[in-house]
Amino acid sequence: MIDIHTHILPAIDDGSPDLSTSCQIIITAATEGVTKIIATPHYWPGVYQPHWREVLQKTEQLNNELSKKGNSITILPGMEVHLDIELPRLLEKGIIGTLNNTGKYLLVELPAQSFPHYSEMVLCKLLSLGITPILAHPERNSEVINNPEILYSLLEKGVLIQLTAASITGAFGRRAMQTSTLMLEYGWVHFIASDCHDIDKRPYVFLNGIEKAETILSKNEVELITRENPEKLIAGEDILTRSIKPIEKNVIKNRNKRGKKLSKQNFILRTWNLLTNKNRR
Ligand SMILES: [Fe+2]
Repeated sequence: MIDIHTHILPAIDDGSPDLSTSCQIIITAATEGVTKIIATPHYWPGVYQPHWREVLQKTEQLNNELSKKGNSITILPGMEVHLDIELPRLLEKGIIGTLNNTGKYLLVELPAQSFPHYSEMVLCKLLSLGITPILAHPERNSEVINNPEILYSLLEKGVLIQLTAASITGAFGRRAMQTSTLMLEYGWVHFIASDCHDIDKRPYVFLNGIEKAETILSKNEVELITRENPEKLIAGEDILTRSIKPIEKNVIKNRNKRGKKLSKQNFILRTWNLLTNKNRR
């Protein structure tokens, strides 16, 4: 399998702090059946600004270290770029780069809490330049969680979606998990990746997410988003898509109502436990 979104390059962003951690993460990935990993350090103007040249150099260095240790996993270059109106210019200048440097797919991260008004403009500009944006884990964006249909017209235009495996298993909370499930059910997901950062706070989770996806999709559908599409991505070829459906408004409304009911039940339970000292140790 191929993991298309990881922070395994040492000391370049908030991911792996050193070579030893990178190697530990890679060994875990290998035990989960991963053979190729795209290193996607953050590019976030004013926060993390590695030059594409540096990413290419560090990827080569990591591959050399791995072959010295006899590890057969291949690391490919990539970036996770924060949504910014400058993205087309940064690409043109060679400051940022596409996944596996094929000039075809760009991994784009939305802000965590908002869906900027210029999102569609930037993503459509990239499409017009022949670059396909892949939205990194939109199931964790609070605007998308509240209103997933804001993505539908972008999907129709050709924007793709990558889910984080740990979102599917629930590690990012109930609402991110529900949104992941909806996206899988409605044909919105094109890739699943680990987005691993380290070995403790954001450890390697990949196979568990895929196994959970297998309870929602057919075997062929899971095969498409976990094997066939990543293979095509690294080759710079067009990926295959499932037919997408809009998520009906009442589905979101009912989900939110259920969520509120659950929050209320949890609040009553917590208060009851406090009053009856059940949580006292
Ligand atoms: Fe990431």
